[in-house]
Amino acid sequence: MLNIGVLGCGKIAQVRHIPEYAANQGAKLTGFFDMDAQRTGEIAAKYNGKAYSSAQELLADPDIEGVSVCVANHAHAELAIAALQAGKHVLCEKPMAVTLAECEAMLAEADKAGKRLLIGQNQRLAKAHVKAKELLEAGEIGKVVTFRTTFGHGGPETWSITPGNNTWFFDKKRAAMGAMADLGIHKTDMLRYILGQDIVRTTARLLTLDKRGADGQFIGVDDNAICIYETSGGAFGTMTASWTHYGMEDNSTILYGTQGIMRIYDDPVHTITVISQKGEVTHYDLEKIQTNDDQTASGVIDEFVEAVSQNRPSVLDAGDVIRSMKAVFASIRSSEEGRPVEVEL
Ligand SMILES: NC(=O)c1ccc[n+]([C@@H]2O[C@H](COP(=O)([O-])OP(=O)(O)OC[C@H]3O[C@@H](n4cnc5c(N)ncnc54)[C@H](O)[C@@H]3O)[C@@H](O)[C@H]2O)c1
Repeated sequence: MLNIGVLGCGKIAQVRHIPEYAANQGAKLTGFFDMDAQRTGEIAAKYNGKAYSSAQELLADPDIEGVSVCVANHAHAELAIAALQAGKHVLCEKPMAVTLAECEAMLAEADKAGKRLLIGQNQRLAKAHVKAKELLEAGEIGKVVTFRTTFGHGGPETWSITPGNNTWFFDKKRAAMGAMADLGIHKTDMLRYILGQDIVRTTARLLTLDKRGADGQFIGVDDNAICIYETSGGAFGTMTASWTHYGMEDNSTILYGTQGIMRIYDDPVHTITVISQKGEVTHYDLEKIQTNDDQTASGVIDEFVEAVSQNRPSVLDAGDVIRSMKAVFASIRSSEEGRPVEVEL
């Protein structure tokens, strides 16, 4: 039984981490801390755990063996490192951290402590992406030549536990990055994972086109990002992240290979559609992807508990996810400098 502490009891903790730990036979929700003391108290009471008055107090509890880090982006590294130093295994939400130096420090600390560090890249576990990877490895559409992948919705201001235009997601100090790191990291990471290739070069533009803060001014982070990615296997395509797709979420990926086309989450009925070079159509009808409005089990928590308990490698291991973060940071630099940037891996 893995005793769990949860740092940050906002939306992602309440809709995924906490209920998925509660449903997992191998885990026990032991303690909670959120900087909002009332929220800590309510969640601790609801799940029969202990309410701590600081992260340090929770981390000093020797009973706690694993920690979920579910706080605003800027505090991921600080809390993950503190948890590893306290001898806990860590499941940290995405984006892994807000600078490459922070990501590297987290990995170094996990290594030093001999503890696991997994990142909540749930798109790797989505049924369609698991199947797509399998089909690609079997050569179903040949060699991928081009692609387009998109993650867009109407923005995080209706999602956060404290909704509205004052949300931390819009604040550069706490979010650091906008749609690119909120949604772009998902598709960048998923693409690397299903292709089994790295992003080696990026040409990107990150813009703030529509979102305004409570003061009526444009927010300090990007609300749209479009990246042209080149991969280690020679594929070339676009990755779009947007907080201004009002009305309906877009989670689609289309891969164009030498032997056909694969459309993933691009049709409300068929999860994957493969179209062969001759035009034959095959549908794979699997579980729908979880959206902001339709939460299904992410599988991330089960993966963390099992990987730690069985001491086995995980697809969510930070050592691989950092390579996706490098593509994100390179894209930000490309946009700032107005030129293609090589991803230093
Ligand atoms: N994997 C996914 O698909 C996914 C989806 C949504 C959010 N997230 C990530 O989860 C993290 C949390 O996002 P959210 O949607 O739950 O936001 P939220 O605004 O709903 O909740 C954040 C919570 O963290 C608390 N908090 C902030 N800083 C803290 C600190 N230093 N110490 C303790 N508590 C602190 C806040 O009081 C709040 O309760 C973010 O990094 C976000 O990117 C991941």
